[in-house]
Amino acid sequence: MEKIKKIISKSDIQKKVKKLAVQISKDYKSKDLVLIGILKGAIVFLSDLMRNLSTPVSMDLIQVSSYGASMSSAGVIKMKKDIDIDVKGKNVLIVEDIIDYGYTLDYLLKYLSKKNPESLSVCVLLDKVARRRVEVPLKYRGFEVPDKFMVGYGLDWAEKYRNLPYIGFISEKA
Ligand code: IMP
Ligand code: MG
Repeated sequence: MEKIKKIISKSDIQKKVKKLAVQISKDYKSKDLVLIGILKGAIVFLSDLMRNLSTPVSMDLIQVSSYGASMSSAGVIKMKKDIDIDVKGKNVLIVEDIIDYGYTLDYLLKYLSKKNPESLSVCVLLDKVARRRVEVPLKYRGFEVPDKFMVGYGLDWAEKYRNLPYIGFISEKA
């Protein structure tokens, strides 16, 4: 069994999510806002975030697969599930669990901008800033995290630990 070192508590996450939601509600007041969550990791954050918004919102989900840096230094990303709703002329906010190298969000920003939204921004809960390889504009950012493998609150390690209500990192492997 791996050991998980807890670094962000359930209540600290909830406080941060509320704070982000207050800011987003203010910024998108009386605007057509569409939240786009990135499967699968972002669903826990997305569902908490949207329930804390005071502005009307629609949402959709998108999924990409990445073949990591081991296969290509450019980070090859492939679309697995596109959004269903038409975002043309809407204000789109991508909701993501964590940004690491930045390839995933860089790809999705380019991909979604071709659908001609009125605006396109990113809200990310965790930022592993030390590992960034490509610059990505982050309009909303929850926590900066160390260069460790993070799990919990939607984030997985081999599909495990997504259900943890707190965030931690793998500190020991079996
Ligand atoms: P990027 O393209 O390198 O920025 O990677 C972003 C994606 O990699 C996220 O959507 C996560 O699914 C995954 N990821 C990156 N770091 C972690 C981590 O520490 N724990 C779990 N998933 C991670
Ligand atoms: Mg993800």
